[in-house]
Amino acid sequence: MAEIVILPGSPDEAKAAAGELAADLIARVVRGKPDAVLGLATGSTPLPVWSALAARDLDWSRVQGFALDEYVGLPAGHPESYRAVITREVVDTLGLTPTLVHVPGDDGGEIATAGQRYEAAIAAAGGVDIQVLGIGRTGHIGFNEPGSSFASRTRVKTLTEATRLDNARFFDSIDDVPRHCLTQGLGTILDARALVLLAFGEAKADAIAGAVEGPVSASLPGSAIQLHPEVTVLVDEAAASKLRFADYYRYAWDNRPDWAHWS
Ligand code: F6R
Repeated sequence: MAEIVILPGSPDEAKAAAGELAADLIARVVRGKPDAVLGLATGSTPLPVWSALAARDLDWSRVQGFALDEYVGLPAGHPESYRAVITREVVDTLGLTPTLVHVPGDDGGEIATAGQRYEAAIAAAGGVDIQVLGIGRTGHIGFNEPGSSFASRTRVKTLTEATRLDNARFFDSIDDVPRHCLTQGLGTILDARALVLLAFGEAKADAIAGAVEGPVSASLPGSAIQLHPEVTVLVDEAAASKLRFADYYRYAWDNRPDWAHWS
């Protein structure tokens, strides 16, 4: 089922509430499957999810993780590499077992074949049980920029200048932001058993409207979520501001059935 939840309140209140709801979904998976496989997003959006999860009493020792993406071309150990970010923000925060958490290209092999090896590693782990997603202004999920095939698998992509500009905030200058990345494909993401997409702020409103209500199109890669049977979208009022059916989503959430997985 697709559930669109618009969190009311101040931006901080909405982020915290979205983090708690995403944590509810992830905690359910981890309680039911101690060696669950989590799909991990980086960036600012998922931070409230990790902090909400850190406050839960869960056994993380056998939980596995697969990051969505990684820059190509940063020096090893760079603090903004997604390997470093995932270690800092997820592995250390939750107490995951470091050897069970993977980032594309982190096995030391050739970049050209890193995507295939990553796909094989995800398959060997049994597939992703629940994938956390943010969305870029370009509509990307993972780093699948406009034009990405819905059938794509993990591979090298070129970042748009808009994404490099957005991510320049993590670097000294835009010149330091890599032009290339390794990213799970849209096909890889759609194989996860459940998706949780979070977005906050007005800058994400067009991308969210396109992803949730727009035509299913490679021009807005996030619209691929419409093809998935188990998606939860958690947004604040600003990110929801261009949703045509916002009133219905609020009504459906307020009247969610007792048997729904949230109760
Ligand atoms: C990050 C990722 C990207 C981000 C997106 C939003 O691993 O795959 O799709 O989720 O660029 O970034 P933030 O959350 O920083 O706005």
